[in-house]
Amino acid sequence: MQYQNILTSSTEQIFTITINRPDKLNALNYQTIQEIGQAVMQAETDANIRGIIITGTGEKAFAAGADISEFANFNAAEAEKLSREGGKVFTAIEQCTKPVIAAVNGFALGGGCELAMACHLRIASANARFGQPEVNLGLIPGYAGTQRLTQLIGKGKALEYLMTADMIAAEEALRLGLVNAVVERETLLSTTEATLKKIATKAPLAIAAIIRSVNSFYAFDQDGFETEIREFSRCFETDDFKEGTTAFLGKRAAVFQGR
Ligand code: COA
Repeated sequence: MQYQNILTSSTEQIFTITINRPDKLNALNYQTIQEIGQAVMQAETDANIRGIIITGTGEKAFAAGADISEFANFNAAEAEKLSREGGKVFTAIEQCTKPVIAAVNGFALGGGCELAMACHLRIASANARFGQPEVNLGLIPGYAGTQRLTQLIGKGKALEYLMTADMIAAEEALRLGLVNAVVERETLLSTTEATLKKIATKAPLAIAAIIRSVNSFYAFDQDGFETEIREFSRCFETDDFKEGTTAFLGKRAAVFQGR
């Protein structure tokens, strides 16, 4: 597929999406967000792909936010449309049935922080800095930053960072649980790939069931305990379950087919 603002590549069953607007610090305009959504869908429906990385081009930024120049003259109705349509892409990432990891290579501000938070895991380089600086612009986050930051780091710290607009350095993000790991820039992609390769050795349908079950905890129209019972029981119908248990009892490594 042809994209203008992102680069895509796939090797060893990993699909990498690189936001590619370096002169704008990878700011997320409408088109870029839509392209990320299309690329995630492309990877999700490709049977050869087992995991997805989202990262930014260059040394400086993962994504320095929504593109301020794009919405500077918006009215409320236009802002609502931007927020709803972008929000759909972020929710699709969160609900992707294959693991999505943000490899955060620099600034992840505003929409960039929200994009990273929509991913299942976040691995940051030591120079990464997170933040929701919207109040500096007379705004609040519009891609669910108030919700996902609260889910990840808790209400008190989320309110602090949302109200002060302070940036969160990588090590502090690790302490807060906002990121899963901090590594040197040189090893950011290899570490992220290694994590996805480890997950790729597990049963794909079980991984999808984990994602649905954990997401269900935060879905107010669902009972997460019921979701888990349903997902758990469904696993018993899969070939992967038979393979996993047979391999364990036969003292050999399981080879999962994702069916
Ligand atoms: N939207 C649009 N353009 C952006 C942008 C954004 N969110 N973030 C950076 N840019 C552009 C700058 O306007 C500049 O473009 P120019 O060279 O045409 O003037 C270019 O990217 C480089 O940014 P610059 O500000 O010169 O880099 P810096 O190193 O001095 O500062 C930041 C880096 C991230 C601290 C600073 O760019 C910044 O605060 N960005 C906005 C962050 C933000 O508020 N995001 C939330 C938006 S809702």
